[in-house]
Amino acid sequence: MTDKTARFTTGGDASIELPVLDGAIGPQVVDIRKFYADTGMFTYDPGFTSTASCRSKITFIDGDEGVLLHRGYNIEDLATNCDFLEVCYLILYGELPNKEERRKFGYDVTYHTMVHEQINQLVRGFRRDAHPMALMIAVVGALSAFYYEDLNIRDPRNRMIATFRLIAKLPTIAAMAYKYSIGQPFIYPRNDLNYAENFLHMMFAVPCEPFKPNPVVAKALDQIFILHADHEQNASTSTVRLVGSTGASPYAAISAGIASLWGPAHGGANEAVVNMLREIGSPDEIPHYLERVKDKNDNFRLMGFGHRVYKNYDPRATVLKQSAHDVLTELGKQDEPMLKIALELEKIALDDSYFVDRKLFPNVDFYSGIILQAIGIPTSMFTAIFAMARTVGWIAQWNEMVEDPEQKIGRPRQLYTGAPPRDFVPMDQRG
Ligand code: CMC
Repeated sequence: MTDKTARFTTGGDASIELPVLDGAIGPQVVDIRKFYADTGMFTYDPGFTSTASCRSKITFIDGDEGVLLHRGYNIEDLATNCDFLEVCYLILYGELPNKEERRKFGYDVTYHTMVHEQINQLVRGFRRDAHPMALMIAVVGALSAFYYEDLNIRDPRNRMIATFRLIAKLPTIAAMAYKYSIGQPFIYPRNDLNYAENFLHMMFAVPCEPFKPNPVVAKALDQIFILHADHEQNASTSTVRLVGSTGASPYAAISAGIASLWGPAHGGANEAVVNMLREIGSPDEIPHYLERVKDKNDNFRLMGFGHRVYKNYDPRATVLKQSAHDVLTELGKQDEPMLKIALELEKIALDDSYFVDRKLFPNVDFYSGIILQAIGIPTSMFTAIFAMARTVGWIAQWNEMVEDPEQKIGRPRQLYTGAPPRDFVPMDQRG
């Protein structure tokens, strides 16, 4: 708490003085909790563009400068020096692990990689062409039926076990969704592999042949996981917090987060990028698509461009741009037309006044889609991979919310614009 205040005129001579809170860094925040009680007015902020919904110590974003920090560490440093589980530990516990802490954390997570055999039956109940995200929403939500004891969320031990289970099982469930869609047997996890290698194993191994993950591919995938691990109070994280604020099971809250992530304006964008690059088809067609973007009667947007918070280059995209080159070179795909179109599109868009004036830069999804497609991941799995990676952020934010003494059930208000009070008309008197 500070003694700074901000005064707002609320009509005529009336005014209200509200406390101003300081964060560690970033904009100051006007504390409007008493605003309604003192003035009888609500505040209006659809899309929450000016609203801080909680206090958080996990992630900081400076969208104007293109900065992303987890627990104070720069995302570029984390993505180039750490592995995914090391970053998970940091996000969950607030400090980078030492060797022994990293070893124990790896053990705690891998101990939970298998799913109950009954989950196989659940997955088999789906149509083979079900979207992996539809299946993940259902299966992750269903985990709450398997782990009743985790429903007491006030018990820190329960929360910790739910945390390990979710981080460990999401890749297993995502890979099951893929294997089911192509009619191959589910592949059990291998705890001797690292997180990314194990996921590649469950995706691409078959029981009749040995499988050895490519280290360059595994490293690129691990980096994609790190770059998607958390992103402060975005739509899916806010969904997890809102569902969690009711005291619901963590599995139900994460399932809701997956549902929220699915939309093309959020996690579905990496899939949409690849579909868009396919549709463009050739660098010669780019001007035509840029014309469409500028046409007010056409709602076409360049997928993978723009961000609600970043009004500068998305720092995650910087790391992945390099990674896309490394992977495509390793796989001998550096001449892929899709990469050529992507690079050309980026160059032209960054020079175009429409994009410059609106501060529209490539975001993380612009390059992650290209990498995932090069390593043989089908587009329908892209958002599922984002969900796997974001699970640590969701569960860390959920834990933080449960421990927050200021936490209340999330309950926004509204500006009512419907009919005023009116007399009821019996059916036989209605026109
Ligand atoms: N292509 C063309 N024009 C765009 C784009 C785009 N991708 N994004 C925004 N604009 C324009 C928009 O038409 C508007 O122009 P005008 O002022 O003339 O009406 C202006 O820029 C502001 O757009 P907005 O919709 O008010 O911005 P927003 O902050 O609400 O939207 C966004 C953010 C990410 C939903 C949007 O930029 C978008 O739809 N991008 C494409 C989808 C995408 O790549 N999403 C992934 C986001 S990163 C992953 C994640 O964190 O989930």
